Amino acid sequence: MRSLLSINDISDEVETILNIATDFKEGRIEEEPLKNQKLAMIFQKSSTRTRVSFEVGMYELGGTALFLSNNDIQLGRGEPIKDTAKVLSRFVDGIMIRAIKHSDVEEFAEEADIPVINGLTNYEHPCQALADMLTVKEHKGGFDGKFVYVGDGNNVCNSLMLICGCLGMDMAVACPDEYRPPAEIISQAEEYAAQNGSTITITADVKEAVKDADVIYTDVWVSMGDEAEEEKRMNDFAPYQVNQELVDLADDDVIFMHCLPAIRGKEVTAEVIDGPHSAIYDEAENRMHAQKAVLYYFLKVLQE
Ligand code: CP
Ligand code: NVA
Repeated sequence: MRSLLSINDISDEVETILNIATDFKEGRIEEEPLKNQKLAMIFQKSSTRTRVSFEVGMYELGGTALFLSNNDIQLGRGEPIKDTAKVLSRFVDGIMIRAIKHSDVEEFAEEADIPVINGLTNYEHPCQALADMLTVKEHKGGFDGKFVYVGDGNNVCNSLMLICGCLGMDMAVACPDEYRPPAEIISQAEEYAAQNGSTITITADVKEAVKDADVIYTDVWVSMGDEAEEEKRMNDFAPYQVNQELVDLADDDVIFMHCLPAIRGKEVTAEVIDGPHSAIYDEAENRMHAQKAVLYYFLKVLQE
């Protein structure tokens, strides 16, 4: 049984899934391919885009999605992951989970008898990365350019590094030393990049990193779960704000991306996120097209 917990799980299939997403977006796939299928969606953290895009996406595929807030199911009262996974496997065809701990999603996938899809953990956000690369493909015509991530070496950054490596897109991460992505993510991304003819660079020098960038991407400085460090993080990341001065160092046709939610005036200025280079709403829309592709691929193609 295949699950999508990490970009590593689809390292050779990223382009296939992106092509399916484009086919969905352009109406080239039969109507209701997941007719009567059911997806359970467990959320241990807040969500706007992930919840709505999975729910609407499942509906558009002909199926149904069940929103299960952690507080409303017995999992939140301590029912074991094993029992939850085994029982849900008897009722539905797939499980999407947004979890506090990545290891919980791994345990879920081990115990479930159906595909499990990671809708964000502290470690990775693979569905976001797929939607992001769909956006890059559409805006830039492919993956030949330079993708620069500025800010926290977090879940979103991890999945983006891996996916850039898989697609052979040059990637630079500009972050304070203390917030570098985990060493094993860097080495895995470098391995993919070497196989696919691109490079991964990690630097603390944000001005150097954004030179000639085709994409500048950032995320919040305080992710869900990091709230206790808010004051320190605000200070540490202040020099990494994406503002017009930084954008002016990049390619003239640079696009600005952000997974959202964003805080204007912190990781990005309003001038940039609401300005002519911003692709944030196309990017958010692409969550649904990419997720429909993931659902179709894991719940139908891989089951045949
Ligand atoms: N980008 C993203 O995952 O947004 P939500 O937290 O709103 O789902
Ligand atoms: N890094 C952010 C992403 C939100 C979509 C978080 O984990 O809160």
